[in-house]
Amino acid sequence: MNILITGGAGFIGSSIADAYRERGHEIVIVDNLSTGKLENVPRGAAFYQMDIRDEGFADIVREHNIDIINHHAAQIDVRRSVEDPRYDLSVNVLGSLNVIEAGLRNSVRRIVFASSGGAGYGEQEYYPADEKHPIAPCSPYGITKVTVERYLHYYHMVHGLQYTVLRYTNVYGPRQNPHGEAGVVAIFTDKLLRRQQPVINGDGLQTRDYVFVDDVVRANVFALEMEGSDTFNVCTNVETTVNTIFRVLNEALDSPADERHGEAKAGEQQRSVCSFEKVKSRFGWEPQVSIESGLRQTVAWFQERFEDDE
Ligand SMILES: NC(=O)c1ccc[n+]([C@@H]2O[C@H](COP(=O)([O-])OP(=O)(O)OC[C@H]3O[C@@H](n4cnc5c(N)ncnc54)[C@H](O)[C@@H]3O)[C@@H](O)[C@H]2O)c1
Repeated sequence: MNILITGGAGFIGSSIADAYRERGHEIVIVDNLSTGKLENVPRGAAFYQMDIRDEGFADIVREHNIDIINHHAAQIDVRRSVEDPRYDLSVNVLGSLNVIEAGLRNSVRRIVFASSGGAGYGEQEYYPADEKHPIAPCSPYGITKVTVERYLHYYHMVHGLQYTVLRYTNVYGPRQNPHGEAGVVAIFTDKLLRRQQPVINGDGLQTRDYVFVDDVVRANVFALEMEGSDTFNVCTNVETTVNTIFRVLNEALDSPADERHGEAKAGEQQRSVCSFEKVKSRFGWEPQVSIESGLRQTVAWFQERFEDDE
């Protein structure tokens, strides 16, 4: 298949690009390199340094006869979305609309969209959240992710566009972006490698559902074979505290750092965890990488790069 990956120079998009290439698909990547890196783009993929809001995007879809658009490009920084909601809206909603309309005009078979479970469900009413959990985003970033889901549904109902929405929880792993939803892993690892003292916000008992990038990639492989249009959580149903993340990383790096706590961040979500029952019953997908193993693999990747830089 001919697959266009937006954000394919970024953390998750480039990992998906590698997996699709390995399965023999033709890959086209559109990325403006605002946070992505050229070195992440797999060999053999066609690469366009372009903003997803650019009118020329539709020409790329047409020229490459694209079957599937896998849409991962986004403004991903929740804090930036709070400081500059207009920019977040522009990239995440207007950019996504440009992607969707280009797909529709050029008869793509499907759009796969990277949405967010944690940011979309907001402060949860029950645990774990399934896909029927009320949508109550607490940030402009969460609002834009949910809005794109709604547009996809609209274009499906009115124009017959096929879509797959994957609602990730906190994705971590090699190449991860420290501004993403699992940013704490990259931030702590980087500090510990530099023998600096990480500071845990508040009591560190706030929980997240951390899903390893290879598991997320496998869900994107399943999405290629999907029939119909639907929305799935991609998560682990395991709650991990920030304190645990710190302890596992500290141990993996054999670091002498103490567990130090600072001020709690106002408005920070206290608990977040999602259910993967739906994607399991439909595709047989379930997470395969435990948090301990995933963190060790992540640390090894950061360590290698750190040693190369030294
Ligand atoms: N990392 C997580 O924990 C997580 C959780 C839920 C959802 N997601 C979603 O997954 C997707 C990928 O996130 P990531 O963690 O890999 O982040 P990332 O920053 O590594 O990837 C985003 C990519 O999009 C590109 N990009 C940004 N704005 C663009 C624009 N206007 N035009 C073209 N390219 C642009 C960036 O250069 C980057 O390569 C995003 O849509 C994000 O919202 C991530």
